[in-house]
Amino acid sequence: MIIVIDGPAGSGKSSTAKSIANRLSLHYLDSGALYRAVTCLWINAGKPEKEQFFNMLTEVHLQVEYINDLFHVKANGEDLTNQIRSQEISSHVSEIASLPEVRGYVNALMKKIIANGIYIADGRDLGTAVFPDAFLKFYMDASLEERAMRRFRELENSGQNVSFKDVKQNLNDRDLKDKSRVSDPLKKAPDAILIDTTGKTFEEQISEITQIIKENIKL
Ligand code: DC
Repeated sequence: MIIVIDGPAGSGKSSTAKSIANRLSLHYLDSGALYRAVTCLWINAGKPEKEQFFNMLTEVHLQVEYINDLFHVKANGEDLTNQIRSQEISSHVSEIASLPEVRGYVNALMKKIIANGIYIADGRDLGTAVFPDAFLKFYMDASLEERAMRRFRELENSGQNVSFKDVKQNLNDRDLKDKSRVSDPLKKAPDAILIDTTGKTFEEQISEITQIIKENIKL
């Protein structure tokens, strides 16, 4: 069974999904991390031609594990968990995630991962394209200014030297690419519950979603 949270970058999806997974003892799946890992593989391979890269990808075994608030990703045994959060990956990930072959690869992997257990997952197209029959769907959003400030603080806290202006520009560019791409663009599923987190505290948004889940599922 799966509960999905979609929304633009920096809307608070992943911190919310993680916190709910911890509180309700659910498994957590970070779909963006899988696109980031594929992007990391493409960069580490020296940005090969796409056809060559798709062939390479068929030989890659991606493994994921959620431990102590951190979503770990390994590719053929190599740990990519830290690498996938760099600004370099962030600036290429929308391009790689827009390729239908990459989406097919990631979607098949996600379906396999969630086959056993109750999962909460965050992404862009989970409620519309990947899991249209998800048990519950949420769509989180917040103003660009607020999303950029949250992402900027996150990067600053993890020791990355970035400017607020660059972070805001990157989020805006990614939103445009994610919403306008041909393959499974970011959009709210008609049956998704909208959670606008602008001006809300983290605790307020968590309580709102947790309450809806508890009303709908007997855990
Ligand atoms: O959630 P994130 O910022 O780590 O996601 C990284 C990128 O991956 C994002 O810019 C778009 C892409 N993505 C996607 O296309 N579909 C998903 N379900 C999740 C992420």
